[in-house]
Amino acid sequence: MTPLLRVKDLAINIVHGKNVFSAVKSISFELWEGEILGIVGESGCGKSLTALAIPGLLPQAAEAGSGSVFFEGRNLLALSEQELCRVRGNEISMVFQEPLLSLNPLLRVGRQIEESLLLHGKKDRKNNREQILGIMESLGLPDPAGLFRAYPHQLSGGMCQRVMIALAMICGPRLLIADEPTTALDAAIQAQIIGLIRKINRERGTAVLFISHDLGVIRRLCHRVLVMYAGKIVESGKAEDVFRRPLHEYTRGLIGSIPDRKRKGSALANIPGKVPSVEEQLPGCPFAPRCAKARERCREAFPEATAFGSGQRVHCFAAEPPSGEARP
Ligand SMILES: Nc1ncnc2c1ncn2[C@@H]1O[C@H](COP(=O)(O)OP(=O)(O)OP(=O)(O)O)[C@@H](O)[C@H]1O
Ligand code: SF4
Ligand SMILES: [Mg+2]
Repeated sequence: MTPLLRVKDLAINIVHGKNVFSAVKSISFELWEGEILGIVGESGCGKSLTALAIPGLLPQAAEAGSGSVFFEGRNLLALSEQELCRVRGNEISMVFQEPLLSLNPLLRVGRQIEESLLLHGKKDRKNNREQILGIMESLGLPDPAGLFRAYPHQLSGGMCQRVMIALAMICGPRLLIADEPTTALDAAIQAQIIGLIRKINRERGTAVLFISHDLGVIRRLCHRVLVMYAGKIVESGKAEDVFRRPLHEYTRGLIGSIPDRKRKGSALANIPGKVPSVEEQLPGCPFAPRCAKARERCREAFPEATAFGSGQRVHCFAAEPPSGEARP
């Protein structure tokens, strides 16, 4: 079976004048049709850069250094900007953390959603209006006709995010990338957005790449999870396996830390130190300075992946097989 998305040896660099820093280091993963895949890790681990590289939306300071991103048989990294424009919105769409920043304050909500249809050649205004009201209704947004006429400043943060999700879904993409879509929202609204993404996945079969530093959210929503640390994937597997028996020392530390959304970007409760900056390039396992189990060899080479059980993979010299399972 071919995955919907296959990222292979993707490296992303940050370019500061003549200096080039490696921010995402040769990562590979697959996303399957109908799957919700989570990426979790502390601030600065490379989650957003990974997500932005897929539809060709890297910021100016960043560039994909090597690797490939195959989506439905095409390497997106090799497409022209014009070809990528057709992919974005139509086949892959994104929602971000700050919905208000993504919406144009001067345009009514209905018109903004219609922009996406117009961009993709759908010019029949009456049909467009019906389609927009239809998607709002099927996603459970209250009072679609009122929302259609509203300006963004008249809506709450949670409603703006639901509008952004309707906008992302209007052209029926096969992949929705959601980068911290609930981080700026309070807990009750966060639950609504998670429910909406789950509904989209179940009812439309849309695959989702869901990024969050919040393990609780990832655990509730995702089928599989990638744990990123300092630009590398250090552990991956089915969400239930990774949360029940984390094998990497970093994942254990993350899971052991009390989730606190206000602490985003600062130190974790039970892991000393912080994520190295892109300027600090450490040989070996990047987690070694923070790891109680670090040994000499951890500082010399990055461990190869060891696979356990039903596809759980971990890059750690100290990883022990789950009980009852022999070391491969
Ligand atoms: N536009 C940019 N200019 C310079 N450096 C950048 C830029 N974007 C990202 N970086 C650097 O690349 C690294 C990875 O950034 P990225 O935004 O992918 O992290 P993240 O895991 O999404 O973090 P967060 O949880 O804070 O969103 C960081 O160290 C960051 O400083
Ligand atoms: S490889 Fe070594 S330093 Fe890295 S997490 Fe495992 S034990 Fe710790
Ligand atoms: Mg980010």
